[in-house]
Amino acid sequence: MVNKYGKEVMKHFTSPEFMGEMKNPSAVGELGNMKCGDIMKIYLKIFEGKIEDISFQTFGCVAAIASSDVLCELAKGKSLEEAKKITNKMIIEKLGGLPSIKEHCSVLGAGALKKAVENYESKKK
Ligand code: FES
Repeated sequence: MVNKYGKEVMKHFTSPEFMGEMKNPSAVGELGNMKCGDIMKIYLKIFEGKIEDISFQTFGCVAAIASSDVLCELAKGKSLEEAKKITNKMIIEKLGGLPSIKEHCSVLGAGALKKAVENYESKKK
């Protein structure tokens, strides 16, 4: 079990590559965290069924910012089906672990991404 933030978490927190609003996104997904009340927004640019670009905005904590940045890294270039399969476990693994009381923060990004994909798919119907 990890009790404090590791190197990888701090790297993604201090210089997140994917943080920011996106102009003219193909879809947006928003999710609130029941435990802490924080909010996450994921923006997607989709081209030919693949995530061409992705970014996030959050009112969340250090763990939420680092998790979302890693989530974007994992999702970029993926098909929508592959993106929906990204779990918070994969995110935590890529971060080299999160303190257990912070694991709920990694659920936010993965959930908001799923919502964004679903929003996109429902618009296409
Ligand atoms: Fe709310 Fe981490 S404490 S997202």
